[in-house]
Amino acid sequence: MFGNAATRAAQYRESLGDRPVGATKTFAEVRAAFNRPLGSAGRPPAEVIDELATLAEAGLVSSAGPRYFGFVVGGALPAASAADILATGWDQNAWNSVLSPTAAAAEDAAGNWLKDLLGLPSTASAGFVTGAQAANTVALTAARHHVLKNAGWDVETDGLAGAPSVRILAGEERHGTIDRSLRLLGFGSGTLELVHSKANGEIDLDDLRARLTDHEGPLIVCLQAGNVNTGASDALGEACDIVHEYGGWVHVDGAFGLWAAASPTHRHQVAGVERADSWGCDGHKWLNLPYDSGFVFSAHPESHAAALGYSASYLVTSDEPEPGDYVLESSRRARGLAVWAGLQELGRDGVTLLVDHCCALAKSLAEQLTTAGYEIGNEVVLNQILVSFGSDAETDRVIAALQATGTCWMGGTTWHSKRYMRISISNYQTTPADLTRTLQAIQSVTH
Ligand SMILES: Cc1ncc(COP(=O)(O)O)c(C=O)c1O
Repeated sequence: MFGNAATRAAQYRESLGDRPVGATKTFAEVRAAFNRPLGSAGRPPAEVIDELATLAEAGLVSSAGPRYFGFVVGGALPAASAADILATGWDQNAWNSVLSPTAAAAEDAAGNWLKDLLGLPSTASAGFVTGAQAANTVALTAARHHVLKNAGWDVETDGLAGAPSVRILAGEERHGTIDRSLRLLGFGSGTLELVHSKANGEIDLDDLRARLTDHEGPLIVCLQAGNVNTGASDALGEACDIVHEYGGWVHVDGAFGLWAAASPTHRHQVAGVERADSWGCDGHKWLNLPYDSGFVFSAHPESHAAALGYSASYLVTSDEPEPGDYVLESSRRARGLAVWAGLQELGRDGVTLLVDHCCALAKSLAEQLTTAGYEIGNEVVLNQILVSFGSDAETDRVIAALQATGTCWMGGTTWHSKRYMRISISNYQTTPADLTRTLQAIQSVTH
């Protein structure tokens, strides 16, 4: 039965290049098929899996395939996917090294490789979380602890009521998960002070500097590597230096853009990233690992563990922080196994190639779109392209018509008050031939 499930998954993966990219039935239709009264009697496992696979088919989206350009998603690498199947089969709990030495060791090794590839300090702590939302939340929890401790306040014990006020700044074009993390942490997103963003979405350093003049007190500044629309990164090193003059904590949300650091060609875009205090990054986006896979790192492991860790008499732990002290969850699947396997499959050169390959394809597609007479709305610096087809209504019509072809899938966005089709090239399997098919599909719905 396990073998049958793995075979089905493998066959699905092999079919990705030929399947329609979107689901073939609507959510309402798929929901109706799944929704039934739960019977009293159980059923044989193999029968359940066969039926599940049949019901699921029409609602599957080929987001792991080579012509899915929506959001920022990457297709999961073969070894990483197989390792994830093993993690499920082994059913390990990654909370600590007593529950699973294997799960903890895989995170330890993969964490070191990740810090090296991303150009982060080797002494930084590493937590394996569900994604960049969780990474941002964990990092900002550590930041809250750190800046308030420096102000003489124990936020873990005394909470925020009556605490010294913490000033929090982020760029106008930050990702929405920063706001949600601040809401969850009790700061309230309304207290966020917005720093002016430049044309391609990077923060304006002059505005940051001006806002901080004469600042005193607890301070957190959220920067970004890889704007979700344009791919642009903030001037990280310079911004870190400015914020550190005022004793602040710098968090870098690098969900996908931090991977620029793994490429000698693109590394300059995140120059100085190692000077920040915490970083969030995803595995399940540009590193092409299976969901759920994100990473949170901090240059202050003691603040990271002090803010997130907990203990109880029945929890057997060592004197060292355990994996569970760096994340939000206690019980957790062994995510590190897929990270370990994916990085071994790629090797150092493979990670660089993955980044460079996607960036080269993005540049090429942007050029082909321009030559074909379409308007590109961003400076294509990484793997993200914005393209307009004239009026907002026409752009939305083209997006819907293109999705209906089943050849490729892109979503829409609003950038500087104008509608765009948003293309993210983040999958190791995408080839120039996929771009040709994509361009032909675009032309078929616009001419
Ligand atoms: C810059 C940035 N931050 C955070 C996120 C949230 O990532 P996740 O969906 O892994 O939580 C995204 C997702 O696209 C992103 O692009």
